[in-house]
Amino acid sequence: MEIGGLTLVTGAGGFIGGHLVAKLLQERHAVRAVDVKPTSDWYQCFPHADNRVLDLKEVEACREAVRGAARVYHLAADMGGMGFIESNKALCMLSVLTNTHALLAAREEGVERYFYASSACVYAEDKQGEADVRPLKESDAYPAMPEDGYGWEKLFSERMCRHFMEDFGLTTRVARYHNVYGPNGTFRGGREKAPAAICRKVAHAKLSGQHEIEVWGDGEQTRSFTYIDDCIYGTMAIMESDIAEPINLGSSELVTINQLIDVVEEIAGISVQRHYNPSAPKGVRGRNSDNTLIRQRLGWEPTTPLRVGMEKTYRWIYDRLSTGDAEIRGASEAPAVSR
Ligand code: NAD
Ligand code: GDD
Repeated sequence: MEIGGLTLVTGAGGFIGGHLVAKLLQERHAVRAVDVKPTSDWYQCFPHADNRVLDLKEVEACREAVRGAARVYHLAADMGGMGFIESNKALCMLSVLTNTHALLAAREEGVERYFYASSACVYAEDKQGEADVRPLKESDAYPAMPEDGYGWEKLFSERMCRHFMEDFGLTTRVARYHNVYGPNGTFRGGREKAPAAICRKVAHAKLSGQHEIEVWGDGEQTRSFTYIDDCIYGTMAIMESDIAEPINLGSSELVTINQLIDVVEEIAGISVQRHYNPSAPKGVRGRNSDNTLIRQRLGWEPTTPLRVGMEKTYRWIYDRLSTGDAEIRGASEAPAVSR
């Protein structure tokens, strides 16, 4: 028996959306799963969901997606890691159409709750200039100086959620995700983020016997990485909470990229020679999540240790590479510019 009303997940063919649909179905919710990609390309596709292929940049597609839904998790976005967002700013900003039209449709349909997946990329760049960074608290998004392109779109869409709540009474919730990783996500093709990219490179080194990898930057830049299970738990908790302002959803375990590579080397059981590429996309020098607010409001914060999450991520990527698919085995970061 299904519980509650219909829940819509947009971007359901992607990494986080696929995991969210899985969890909602496991908890016996009725789910509509929507993505622009053909279902054969979805990371996870469940026969028990109402799966639809729609381009949510179109308002009519949003109306079809939202029809009958009580809850909307809006995750659809044209996005990726630094290799994608640095060279596809216009595409990233066009995602404003999906959130705008989904909000309009949600208002018309009278949905009960609307979740928007924002990003740590909304934070002002001048607060992320050092590897030894002060963790970012929610107020650090202003005065606004976010990541060019992608970050501006996220910040604008956050504000649109706020004003739809204030002016139209639509209950909106916004989480700022900090670099989420795990199985069933992008690990090749140019949109992958550092955890998946490093897993792929080390797994490829192990499989090929050529124990060397390229590392973007000098490896001393810092990040915190959030395991997918924590992301899904936090997303659903924030949706059901009374937290009306954007809130960090991220791990506070700060590591350098070199330390991330150390972890993957240990999991893989090899050490690799690191070739640092200073002209590759680097993004901010340091980024960490201040979790004071989420601890106060939810009595919880992401806790999965990097070593534990990376073990599962590496195993999944290693298994994909070792299937014998020559294209995958040789995969490197091909430019992801699509015009
Ligand atoms: P993803 O790229 O794996 O999934 C996004 C999905 O949205 C893709 O499957 C894509 O096909 C779909 N999509 C794009 N445009 C669409 C359109 N016009 N209509 C319908 N579907 C469309 O990304 P993800 O990692 O699962 O991220 C989900 C959300 O979380 C995104 O909004 C992203 O910006 C946000 N976010 C993710 C991270 C992270 O580290 N993964 C960090 C910060 C924010
Ligand atoms: N992608 C990638 N691939 N990054 C690498 C690699 C590699 O092979 N080697 C080193 N890096 C370095 C990058 O240069 C960057 O300094 C750091 O690892 C992290 O890169 P990403 O994981 O690609 O992105 P990010 O952390 O800067 O931003 C990501 O997280 C945001 C939320 O915190 C992006 O996915 C954003 O879209 C997202 O909003």
